[in-house]
Amino acid sequence: MSQPLRKVVFPVAGLGTRFLPATKAVAKEMLPVLDRPLIQYAVDEAVEAGADTLIFVTNRYKHAIADYFDKAYELEAKLLQKGKNALLAMVRGTLPGHVRAIFVTQPEALGLGHAVLCAKPVIGDAPFGIMLPDDLIWNGSGKGALRQMAELGAREDAGVIAVEEVPHEQTEKYGIVDATPIDERSARIRHMVEKPKPADAPSNLAVVGRYVLPPRIFDLLEHTTTGAGGEIQLTDAIEALLKEQGKVLAYRFEGTRFDCGNKAGLVRATIHMAMQDPALAPVVREIAATL
Ligand code: UTP
Repeated sequence: MSQPLRKVVFPVAGLGTRFLPATKAVAKEMLPVLDRPLIQYAVDEAVEAGADTLIFVTNRYKHAIADYFDKAYELEAKLLQKGKNALLAMVRGTLPGHVRAIFVTQPEALGLGHAVLCAKPVIGDAPFGIMLPDDLIWNGSGKGALRQMAELGAREDAGVIAVEEVPHEQTEKYGIVDATPIDERSARIRHMVEKPKPADAPSNLAVVGRYVLPPRIFDLLEHTTTGAGGEIQLTDAIEALLKEQGKVLAYRFEGTRFDCGNKAGLVRATIHMAMQDPALAPVVREIAATL
């Protein structure tokens, strides 16, 4: 797997029930952390990792994501006319010129594995990335998580899955890996289980929303039957890849993850990002002082 990472899949066809009623009309990925939607943070991370082809797996309710990355002629003309160049650059910069966006639909929300399978016709025969935009990973001015993973995958000729230590009592919320350590950050995965009870969990290393995988995963997904939660699970296909001796590494990325798939995580991410902004940090401190 020594080719560079060019394609990244964003499975964004979930229902986003934890943000109802907002997600009745607004895609979860369009919820903002300050002035940028979650999907923008993920796209920036993919582009920084070297991707030039982004595949969004969407559904009929998620047109806003395509609109967001589309050219906004009227708005751009107005900003140009008014000489608002900084804003114009921001509006045009949602997707850099050399990057193309491809939209495929997942007709029914049959699970993450099924959503990834929908991107099969666009991927070809090189390793590719998968990013779940709910997981916002911030690494300051350091390398983004996906770039760290792409470099490791190319170097080791292996699939790479982002992991993070979670409290033992929370294993039921995650895919959990059983892995043999290689160094401080990476480990060779032996086995993966989707949402095990704490007593059955092989470790507290939880899979988070970044993957670099070989295209072989698609054949395995095609043969994956419904698993935990009645959905087609990506974890089950990765487990099949491991069984056929595929080399997959668990990687403890450098950076802080915010789980923006739930309200507490979105609040945390918002406060954290506000604290990075010299104009907003005093506002956060002022509010905190009054609590
Ligand atoms: P989640 O488990 O977070 O589900 O999916 P969800 O529907 O987005 O949100 P809740 O739990 O109802 O609040 C993890 C990722 O997999 C995608 C989601 O869009 C999200 O990025 N997904 C999930 C799909 O694209 N299709 C599916 O059928 C299921």
